Amino acid sequence: MISKPVEASSPILFFDTGVGGLSVLREAQKLLPNAPIVYAADYAGMPYGTKSEEELSTRIPLLLGRLVERYKPQLVTIACNTASTIALDVVRSVLDIPVVGTVPAIKPASQMSKTGVIGLLGTQATIRQPYVDRLAAEFAADKTILRFGAPDLVNAAEAKLRGELPDPELIDAAVAGLLSQQRGDEIDTIILACTHFPLVQDELQKSFVRAIQFIDGSQGIARRIAYLTREVIWPEVPKSGVFVTTGDLIQLELYQKTLEQFGLTRLEAL
Ligand code: DGL
Repeated sequence: MISKPVEASSPILFFDTGVGGLSVLREAQKLLPNAPIVYAADYAGMPYGTKSEEELSTRIPLLLGRLVERYKPQLVTIACNTASTIALDVVRSVLDIPVVGTVPAIKPASQMSKTGVIGLLGTQATIRQPYVDRLAAEFAADKTILRFGAPDLVNAAEAKLRGELPDPELIDAAVAGLLSQQRGDEIDTIILACTHFPLVQDELQKSFVRAIQFIDGSQGIARRIAYLTREVIWPEVPKSGVFVTTGDLIQLELYQKTLEQFGLTRLEAL
């Protein structure tokens, strides 16, 4: 067991493979602008979407254990659908601080859809999870959910946040993966079930041509974090945040401008 932090203003730790979790941090910072942040990216393990359940359910708790020991956060947010749908329970069993997960926003999507046909874009690993089957059965049993694994969108989002133009072919391929399915033309709502995907939502919308409603879990997660930390008195001014990578520190230079916008100015290697 990892011991509880003592300081009230200890950081909130966000975890993803790359910069996808910034889509969650963005919403959290709207509610908690002064919360100290440590953002951890497992670039050495990226992509998760093509890895096995066995590999991920060993790797993720081990890494989070090391991160919690080093940074003593008061709360961990797994800002990654793949990691959450596979390893949330095991992570919660080894950490004794609150752990907030990111899982596909099937419930709100089901309430939003008028046609009853919903698209779900995630990594290949996420879309095959029993966790997703359970959410669909519980909250959208009367709807049709068309799933598509779009790992290349992860690369498109990473490129965009390095300041590059995301490859339009990657975006079109993801859209075609949904539209080409039976009843694909009836989709009116799309669940972005990978935290990288909201970062390329504008590009996805353009590629869809007709208007589509997009939904992801980030706002709900931000509200959950704010609720769980409601008694914390945050610093009066924001401290510089940490971005820690399991990969190459040099690689982070490409993301520096983006990271600065989130106050993540201390770059570290794990
Ligand atoms: N951002 C991660 C997610 O939400 C996936 C990225 C990856 O495949 O490494 O699922």
